[in-house]
Amino acid sequence: MRLLITGVNGQLGFDCVTEALRRGHNAVGSDIQMNFSDDLPVGAAYVPMDITDAAAVSEKIRAVSPDVIIHCAAWTAVDAAEELENREKVFAVNTQGTRNIAEAAGSVNAKMIYISTDYVFNGRGEAPWMPDCREFAPLNVYGKSKLQGELAVAEILEKYFIVRTSWVFGKNGNNFIKTMLRLGADHPSVRVVSDQIGTPTYTKDLSVLLLDMAETEKYGYYHASNAETAPGRYISWAEFAREIFRRAGLSTEVIPITTSEYSAAKAVRPLNSRLDKSKIGEAGFAPLPDWKDALSRYLREITN
Ligand SMILES: NC(=O)c1ccc[n+]([C@@H]2O[C@H](COP(=O)([O-])OP(=O)(O)OC[C@H]3O[C@@H](n4cnc5c(N)ncnc54)[C@H](OP(=O)(O)O)[C@@H]3O)[C@@H](O)[C@H]2O)c1
Repeated sequence: MRLLITGVNGQLGFDCVTEALRRGHNAVGSDIQMNFSDDLPVGAAYVPMDITDAAAVSEKIRAVSPDVIIHCAAWTAVDAAEELENREKVFAVNTQGTRNIAEAAGSVNAKMIYISTDYVFNGRGEAPWMPDCREFAPLNVYGKSKLQGELAVAEILEKYFIVRTSWVFGKNGNNFIKTMLRLGADHPSVRVVSDQIGTPTYTKDLSVLLLDMAETEKYGYYHASNAETAPGRYISWAEFAREIFRRAGLSTEVIPITTSEYSAAKAVRPLNSRLDKSKIGEAGFAPLPDWKDALSRYLREITN
């Protein structure tokens, strides 16, 4: 099978290319700029492609002629997305860029897997969000642009998966764990929000599920993150930070604060990021492992 994976310079795209190669697939990675001296997975082909350039996307995807496109490229800077001068660009990448990929996927009859976010919902209540829930009400610009991307994929294609995930961490990029390790190294305490609830997602584990999906025709909407420690036992960012410090052998104290006490964030964030992932198992896919197990493996990966 030939796969085109966008966003290979980022966290998830990198691990999807690695997983595709591990399974013996023919993988083509792309990103807005390709620096071939980077530590990219060996064995894949690489194509620079700005997803906002419809003509280039069409031409390059026709040339690659993939069976499946895993679309991981995105504007992911949630707070910067709120800046007025960035808004046009955010929608160009997350909405129009996704539309360009979907149209090109249709033209070569490829399946498409679009990675989205729980930020398409309004974050109210405590009930986990179901993958087929249509009560979209994003609270911030990033969420709005990703939702418009979802709608474009569903409008243009029949052979698509929309996989919403949350709190992503991978080797190839910046994330909450790396920030906590940096802060923990020279601060005796850190203030972390304790009223935003969800589960983290290790890109190595998510990439396994996405490749499993790519090999099937079980299209539709799915939610995927690492499993809760016990069913229904979601965590806060503060709890996540405590476990990061504990497993990294740091004595940094976590001071829990509320979202309203945290003034650094420009974007409104959902308090309820609980994703109901039962559809994964119901469809016959293997669920992602427990988040604590994922955290241990990730800490080993980044310290080796
Ligand atoms: N990170 C999270 O916590 C999170 C949570 C939920 C859902 N998601 C979704 O999961 C997916 C993967 O996230 P991630 O954390 O792996 O993202 P990431 O590390 O930020 O990687 C995204 C990649 O897309 C590239 N890109 C940006 N604009 C582009 C353009 N115009 N053309 C081509 N490539 C472009 C970026 O390049 P530059 O760095 O040069 O801009 C970057 O290499 C995204 O769709 C994201 O929306 C992420």
